[in-house]
Amino acid sequence: MSSSKISHISIIMDGNGRWAKKTGMPRAFGHREGIKSINKIVSACSVRQIEELTLFAFSSENWKRPNHEVKFLLSLFEESIQKYVDDLHNNNVKVNFIGDMSKFNNRLLKNINDAEKLTKDNTNLKLNFAINYGGKWDIINSFNKMLKSNHESIQEKNVKEKDIEEFLALNGSSPDLLIRTAGHYRLSNFMLWQHAYSEIYFTDCLWPDFDEQELDLAIKYYLKTTRKFGSLVDINPSVKEDA
Ligand code: IPE
Ligand code: IPE
Ligand code: MG
Repeated sequence: MSSSKISHISIIMDGNGRWAKKTGMPRAFGHREGIKSINKIVSACSVRQIEELTLFAFSSENWKRPNHEVKFLLSLFEESIQKYVDDLHNNNVKVNFIGDMSKFNNRLLKNINDAEKLTKDNTNLKLNFAINYGGKWDIINSFNKMLKSNHESIQEKNVKEKDIEEFLALNGSSPDLLIRTAGHYRLSNFMLWQHAYSEIYFTDCLWPDFDEQELDLAIKYYLKTTRKFGSLVDINPSVKEDA
């Protein structure tokens, strides 16, 4: 399937806990299984020449979970970055983390910084992990950065769209397609600004069951959509000819 018209896919990877429950296992087991889906989807996106993939791994609201689950998730991130960073690097993937890093321990921060540094010049897929990320945090953070830098828009008391965008955690590239697994129809505070005009695909498939075939179903949905951005013309009619 041709997916050359999709540059950027984002995913709310939901349903690890329900997947584990279904199999009679503890929630942690579902989170581990979810890492396998990440590997599959990263490779699949590279093969399909997607330029950018942004994965929602831990929200600013997920701290409300029981302490043992939060601790498990953070140690799983630490372990997984270390385990997979060389493979990602060998596949020319550029890794980037977005979110409020101020709450993380030094070991996790070191793994994050090392992974970003090692892969910074890679030119294949750009892979963004959103951890301790919230869309509202992102917009507030942008304003605060603008204030601190005494940006000209602040001096002139006239903040414009492009000024807010300049300071967002992920700027310059909005997802074309947002996928949410596991049956809920909500954004859960994921990139509120950047998803303003993304196409959204919801599936009941739980994240640990999400694979290349499920990804292709989402891409197929995207290729059939009409993108008008408020106008009356489909700005990308050629997309549907590929579908
Ligand atoms: C998504 O799976 C992973 C994170 C939010 C960290 P969940 O843990 O939310 O799984 P469900 O929604 O309870 O099934
Ligand atoms: C969204 O899933 C966050 C991530 C996938 C990281 P949640 O399971 O936290 O979302 P809600 O609580 O159902 O909205
Ligand atoms: Mg969930």
